Amino acid sequence: MTVLVTGAAGFIGMHVTEALLARGDRVIGLDNLTAYYDPALKRARLARLESRSGFTFLPVDVADRAAMLPLAVRHTEVTRIVHLAAQPGVRHSLVDPFAYVEANVMGHLVVLEMARRMPRLGHLVYASSSSVYGANRRLPFTETDRVDHPVSLYAATKRAAELMSESHAHLFGLPQTGLRFFTVYGPWGRPDMAPWMFAEAILAGRPITLYEGGRLKRDFTFVEDIVAGVLGCLDRPAPAQAPRILNIGNHRSEEVRRFVAVLEHALGRKASIVDAPRPATDVEETFADISAIAALCGFAPRTPIEDGVPRFAEWYLSWRKGG
Ligand SMILES: NC(=O)c1ccc[n+]([C@@H]2O[C@H](COP(=O)([O-])OP(=O)(O)OC[C@H]3O[C@@H](n4cnc5c(N)ncnc54)[C@H](O)[C@@H]3O)[C@@H](O)[C@H]2O)c1
Repeated sequence: MTVLVTGAAGFIGMHVTEALLARGDRVIGLDNLTAYYDPALKRARLARLESRSGFTFLPVDVADRAAMLPLAVRHTEVTRIVHLAAQPGVRHSLVDPFAYVEANVMGHLVVLEMARRMPRLGHLVYASSSSVYGANRRLPFTETDRVDHPVSLYAATKRAAELMSESHAHLFGLPQTGLRFFTVYGPWGRPDMAPWMFAEAILAGRPITLYEGGRLKRDFTFVEDIVAGVLGCLDRPAPAQAPRILNIGNHRSEEVRRFVAVLEHALGRKASIVDAPRPATDVEETFADISAIAALCGFAPRTPIEDGVPRFAEWYLSWRKGG
């Protein structure tokens, strides 16, 4: 199989690409290495991928339709797409809202328009987010819940992408699966996400801010479990006119302060904790109902935070030392 992976230099993109290469697929990776967080980390991920056979990199902005649409005729060998490129981060969407619409709405539309022109494409799997559940209170979050109240623009752009995928499936028969990721963490993670920021502060002796005393709950999902689910879905194309949307999470919601306690243990240092009220962009709890993805591909997350956090910490310490 030849798989086009957008956002290949990103956290999840690198892991998905490595797993595809490991099983013998060819991968065309696409990324524009945005400076939202240190591009050196993206280049380091890319260097790992470029050392493997079967990998080709294209430095392209997914929202650039003049660059993207010709890929449909230039790369007729593509049979699958994993679309992960996006402007992530809920809080930053207050700072630079336009970046979110450009990458996540225009970018998604351009990927759909490219995809429907690809002659051999059998399935497009794309990243959505648990943030679409917004202020919903009924737990666990289930795919049939209404998702009309996003509490960040990031969430609104992810929901907009899901809706565009619906219309493209209906109009053009494009087989698609949207995956709502729940707080992914692990080696090669993102510097703007809590595990990295906590580890950095703990090691520097700086205080960390926990909202509501760390009582907010997150369905932390280890990246290897995510990769298994992405590949499991990719291999099972959705019916052309009936696109799927599936949760992909750990199905174990943990208090953030417990996550921090496991991290303190892994780093061998105590955190100094500052309490703050929950920002308006952040939800109280995320908790995934994963029965649909389990039924589709046997998805069963295997990594509790007691195993995943030390693996993240070990990688983080070596990255900090210079690789
Ligand atoms: N990590 C999580 O916990 C999480 C949770 C929910 C959803 N997601 C979604 O999963 C996907 C992957 O997230 P991630 O954590 O790996 O983030 P990431 O930022 O590490 O990876 C995204 C990659 O996309 C690239 N990119 C951004 N805009 C682009 C553009 N216009 N054109 C081409 N490339 C572009 C970035 O340079 C980056 O390398 C994203 O769609 C994100 O919204 C992630």
